Amino acid sequence: VDSKTGQLLALHEQAAKLYHHILVNTEMGQPALDYLHDRGLTDETIDTYQLGFAPGQRLLKPFFDQRQSDYQLLRQSGLFIENAQGELRDRFTERVMFPLRNASGHVAAFSGRLLQKADDQPKYLNSPETTLFNKSKLLFNFDLARPAIRQAGEVTLFEGYMDVISATQAGVKNGIASMGTSLTTEQIYAIERTTDKLNVCYDGDEPGQRAIDRALRLLNEHSHLQLSVIQLPEGQDPDEYRKAHGDDAFRQMMVSAKEPPLQFQLRFLRRDRPLETDSERLAYVNQVLPLLAQVDEPVERDMYLGQLANEFQIDKAALV
Ligand code: UTP
Ligand code: MN
Ligand code: MN
Ligand code: MN
Ligand code: MN
Repeated sequence: VDSKTGQLLALHEQAAKLYHHILVNTEMGQPALDYLHDRGLTDETIDTYQLGFAPGQRLLKPFFDQRQSDYQLLRQSGLFIENAQGELRDRFTERVMFPLRNASGHVAAFSGRLLQKADDQPKYLNSPETTLFNKSKLLFNFDLARPAIRQAGEVTLFEGYMDVISATQAGVKNGIASMGTSLTTEQIYAIERTTDKLNVCYDGDEPGQRAIDRALRLLNEHSHLQLSVIQLPEGQDPDEYRKAHGDDAFRQMMVSAKEPPLQFQLRFLRRDRPLETDSERLAYVNQVLPLLAQVDEPVERDMYLGQLANEFQIDKAALV
């Protein structure tokens, strides 16, 4: 760690502490604290993730000015927005703050969530890319989850920060998430160095289902990870499921909703397709065959081929 990196990390550590202090100890933070409690988070969870609040006024800039922090360092931190005159002001305002820690557990960036929906602003705003923060590499919660991943022998990949945090609170501590962008090969390689089993547990909505399909394809192509899908009920994300059904039901669902990736992929390919004409059926079979070819177990592959042949009244020999 060179000294500039060390200084930037120190800046993030201080900012995280300040945002957290505002959230848990001040009047200004009360609405955000109420919001997190309403979402079912305990004070322990809020501490574990050092969640915070960036109020709607200048906070970090005066704080760091008092400490005579170096202007160039502040500029490079990503914590500020610079105007044409080179003046800096806080990037995050009126947002619940989620510190994003790197693999060694140091805060390298932030994501800030709006308290209320606003049409002209993104729900989550992330720090820009800096020397500390590469969003295609960082995995949310990887540092805290690593012991649990080793113990469970598997990792669960969620879509959102809140899903990971919610799962942790329910006792499922081996969860991680990518940075809102789709999963990258760099993240896959980092995961593969820690475990050989991965569950994809994305949201039960249409974007979530498409993201599962994309993730499975990428994981199949770039890793030897043993994959499963944890399929949420229609329209629900994991955090919403926990809120609706409680911790025990959440933990049970994480086991009972687990399915082989191929089962997911076949259902995904079939959705909204009547398969009424021969050409529709042929197109479907032609999409399924490459997926079946990826099944390593000959007996399992043969079983799926048999089902396909049976359903579409095709000679199995014609499929292999
Ligand atoms: P979701 O829209 O599913 O959000 O996006 P969520 O995780 O359920 O969040 P809550 O429950 O509304 O608080 C999933 C992930 O996509 C990224 C974030 O990483 C989020 O956790 N995202 C989403 C963004 O980066 N920006 C956005 O504006 C929205
Ligand atoms: Mn989603
Ligand atoms: Mn391997
Ligand atoms: Mn979601
Ligand atoms: Mn959610």
